[in-house]
Amino acid sequence: MTIDEKTGKTLAQLGLTDSTGIASLFAEVRAAAEAEAEAFGRGDVDEAEVVWQAKILRDRWLARGRGLIARIDQNWLRQTPKESRGVVGAEFNRLRQYATAQFEIDPLLAAHRQKTLARYEKRRGPDLTLPGNRRELGSIHPVTRVQRELEDIFIGLGFHIETGPEIESVYNNFDALNIHESHPSRDDWDTLYISSDVLLRTHTSPVQIRAMRKYGAPLYIITPGKCYRNENPDATHSAMFSQIEGLAVDADINFADLKGTLDFFAKKFFGEKTRTRFQPSFFPFTEPSGEMAASCPFCGGQGCRTCKDSGWIELMGCGMVHPDVLRNGGIDPERYSGWAFGLGIERFAMLKYDIGEIQNFFQSDVRFLRQF
Ligand code: FA5
Repeated sequence: MTIDEKTGKTLAQLGLTDSTGIASLFAEVRAAAEAEAEAFGRGDVDEAEVVWQAKILRDRWLARGRGLIARIDQNWLRQTPKESRGVVGAEFNRLRQYATAQFEIDPLLAAHRQKTLARYEKRRGPDLTLPGNRRELGSIHPVTRVQRELEDIFIGLGFHIETGPEIESVYNNFDALNIHESHPSRDDWDTLYISSDVLLRTHTSPVQIRAMRKYGAPLYIITPGKCYRNENPDATHSAMFSQIEGLAVDADINFADLKGTLDFFAKKFFGEKTRTRFQPSFFPFTEPSGEMAASCPFCGGQGCRTCKDSGWIELMGCGMVHPDVLRNGGIDPERYSGWAFGLGIERFAMLKYDIGEIQNFFQSDVRFLRQF
């Protein structure tokens, strides 16, 4: 007997009085409904035909009086004696809910559209007229941003960008820069060695040697890049960090050129009101050597938390290139002189964005990075 025939009879006529039999009868109707919903709109039919078929299917299940749901209501539910109506009622409500969700015109047409689209995609690939999935755009990392800003200032002054390898010879990193084996500063670097004569460069200064050998004098370069030291991380130190080295070699270069250039640079980066200060220091590869400081950009030199009430912020090491270093770069120190500086890019980024913790730059936390 088909379900159409069965819904024309009462449950008593079908010989069903126990709840197991009733449940399996409703399961049979539900399975038929699922099969009809699944079969609907499978073929390649035009829009008018689909609407027509949808109406037929809707009426078959949901029409008042003669639809299958209405017949089940009248013949099964209402003809069941009151005392056993509970089981039939519960089954009936579930079935009616399902049929209404499936067999109204709108859900039928939506299901048809989906099936058509799936068929279309299978045949021709994705539908390019559908709206795409927007990918979230990233932003430039704050260290890269500051690096580019620093580069732009020096490019504006006629400097070229020169880069070198992060895996460097011990000779270029130390010996050629006048840092002899016995020199105490060689221990100070806390170097990450790869072998006895190869290391991860501890500063960008070896690019000075490479560039002098490659181009000779005159030479005006900046050398941005990563450096590595065997350092315990803290708020201002990292085992990997970035530096920019500056090197100017020409006839008659003197300390006034160095001061003038770096003063101009500080004013460009921190603002026109910035003052600079040079104090003696020591680096084996420069003579004389200095530390350059700028008036604190946060308090204008009045003293604050950032400058530890000194009014000054240490910016970089610098000095006149040692004659031995020029010689190691193949340049005659009798004809040429030069100045150099080296600064930490992360420290500049920390100053620029008032960031207290250098590790933020390396943790790839989007909540931090999204702010730039
Ligand atoms: C040097 O590395 C010299 N080569 C700089 C130089 C070049 C002087 C040319 C004279 C002429 P220093 O060790 O001070 O110097 O490092 C320079 C800068 O690198 C520091 O001011 C700091 O900003 C940054 N820096 C150094 N170590 C770390 C570290 N562990 N983490 C983050 N930044 C660092």
